[in-house]
Amino acid sequence: MAALPSEFDALLATRREGHGMPRAFYQTEALFEQELSRIWHGGWLFAGFAFEIAKPGDYLTFSVGGTSVLVMRDDGNAVRAFHNVCRHRGTLLCRADAGHVRAIVCPYHSWTYSRQGELVNCHGMQEGLDKSKLGLKPLAVEVVSGLIYVSLAASPPDFAPLREEFEPAARPQGFDRAKIARMIEYDVEANWKLVWENNRECFHCPSCHPQYIKANFDIYEEEYASPAIRAQMAAAVARTHDKWASEGLAITHAEGGLARFPDPDLDLWYAADRTVMVDGFETESMDGKRVAPLMGDYQDCDVGVLRMRSMVNFWVHGSCDHAVAARLSPAGPRKTNVRGYWLVDQFAQEGADYDLEKLLPFWHLTNQQDWDISKWQQKGVDSIGYEPGPLSSQKEYNVDAFIRWYLKQMRAGGASGGKAVPLTRVA
Ligand code: FES
Ligand SMILES: [Fe+2]
Repeated sequence: MAALPSEFDALLATRREGHGMPRAFYQTEALFEQELSRIWHGGWLFAGFAFEIAKPGDYLTFSVGGTSVLVMRDDGNAVRAFHNVCRHRGTLLCRADAGHVRAIVCPYHSWTYSRQGELVNCHGMQEGLDKSKLGLKPLAVEVVSGLIYVSLAASPPDFAPLREEFEPAARPQGFDRAKIARMIEYDVEANWKLVWENNRECFHCPSCHPQYIKANFDIYEEEYASPAIRAQMAAAVARTHDKWASEGLAITHAEGGLARFPDPDLDLWYAADRTVMVDGFETESMDGKRVAPLMGDYQDCDVGVLRMRSMVNFWVHGSCDHAVAARLSPAGPRKTNVRGYWLVDQFAQEGADYDLEKLLPFWHLTNQQDWDISKWQQKGVDSIGYEPGPLSSQKEYNVDAFIRWYLKQMRAGGASGGKAVPLTRVA
């Protein structure tokens, strides 16, 4: 990829070590465009779940800035991805978020494409047109344990390391045997980097998430964990280890605080770990009680929380009975669209096996609290009075890591990395 234009290089250099990023990082249209091409178009993006497009002809769409991606199940049942753009005069082809087609017919002049993306009909065009050269532009696509990833890059980074990390971690959760109980679209009035910075620390959890901190140990970094808290974590770790070690369900992040992610030095852009829950919590629900039938391979509720995330647009928390995922789409320097997914077992019936009033609140609240504070942060950062302050080395190590990852990607241009670096695991 071409070198970053010097004015942006100069801007990146204004970030002071150990501090947040200056104002221009969160509001400049031209920088946002650079981020799209150097980060968003370079790596792997979570697009959706394979079960969303179960049959040939099922599709979903996904936007990255002004670029629309079409993900479709083809006639042979394979998942394919294309640019959602007509090869005639560029009209957007599939307009809905999801749907089903026998063939893809452009709404403008009816050029027609098969589910494999070939141009099969273009009545009205001159003889001799080589249709084989006018098929939909294919994109790289990968499916891992029911998760669909797409890359807009011509030469995407190696996907194998993510697969290696996610496959064993995700399998017990049963993302490939799930269904969406509810999907909520959030229009977050904040730059996508503020959304990630918020996600990468739990410093804000005591003030913003009173319900979340009852269930999780995220706020208890080393110096904040009392002997009683430490003992509680140790007991849960020992219990799951004895029960589940051979099934990949043992706790892998056994300390308080957030697991370190991303790692710009190791180019670590994906990670999966399992954390313990506070005693009395079977799942991430308001009262800690189970809210749906067990998912995947889980035999009981003592499985902690599976957490997976990948730069630059995905994270998920999986409890014994449901999972909540987020897919980020950058929509402008001050706007990020986030799709929230609530997944349950594929056979669970609403009303009989789960109720949305019990399933949704824990994470819907958490999401709203996060998007709201991110919006207010954007407003403050937009002020000429904003000056980046120091980050807490005890509580915001991942914010610093995220910023360093971002700067590295912007300078290097493109790929998210892709080195196979297994996370440290508890033996
Ligand atoms: S733009 Fe699609 S058929 Fe003309
Ligand atoms: Fe939060």
